[in-house]
Amino acid sequence: MPKQKLFLRKADMTDLDMLFEWANNELVRQNAFNTEQISYEEHKKWFKELLDDSKQMQFIMYSGSEPIGQARLSIHMDEAEIDYSIASEKRGMGYGKELIHLLQKIVSNEYTSIRKLVAKVKTSNAASICCFRKNGFSETYSQYEYDMTKCRSEGYHI
Ligand SMILES: CC(C)(COP(=O)(O)OP(=O)(O)OC[C@H]1O[C@@H](n2cnc3c(N)ncnc32)[C@H](O)[C@@H]1OP(=O)(O)O)[C@@H](O)C(=O)NCCC(=O)NCCS
Repeated sequence: MPKQKLFLRKADMTDLDMLFEWANNELVRQNAFNTEQISYEEHKKWFKELLDDSKQMQFIMYSGSEPIGQARLSIHMDEAEIDYSIASEKRGMGYGKELIHLLQKIVSNEYTSIRKLVAKVKTSNAASICCFRKNGFSETYSQYEYDMTKCRSEGYHI
């Protein structure tokens, strides 16, 4: 369990490189819906636009003076979608759960027009599912997929 005081601060341009490194972490890409590695130029353009966008809020979570992870809220109408990650060397120590809890608190106190928090999580991402469930989130949606290369490679037609 984290011992130092945990808090969120709004991200700024000085976080560009740290967020770039975290975004290209192997597990972060694997658990994202776009699994491609991100180029520095692409990241820089995206991050500048994000900082100028009033519908997106990027936070860095600290434990004392140490950056531990990041979370982003993207607002659509009265809902906010969460994207988050914990630095690889800090995973499995309870920080993911705490990060979601801090987001709930900040939205409750400072973003009162947001009525619902949503997150799209791959079914393979057990740690993230746990972070949401432990903070009172419930599953409302499933996506079923069929890989067409499966039947093609086996040489039969449906
Ligand atoms: C998902 C992620 C944010 C979770 O953060 P974390 O700090 O590692 O999670 P926690 O330590 O708070 O663990 C939360 C729960 O998941 C469980 N857990 C942790 N790693 C796990 C794993 N690999 N498999 C199954 N359960 C796991 C923990 O035991 C804990 O459960 P408990 O409360 O019953 O003990 C982190 O793994 C991460 O950054 N992953 C890559 C990016 C990502 O997947 N982001 C989320 C996209 S939706």
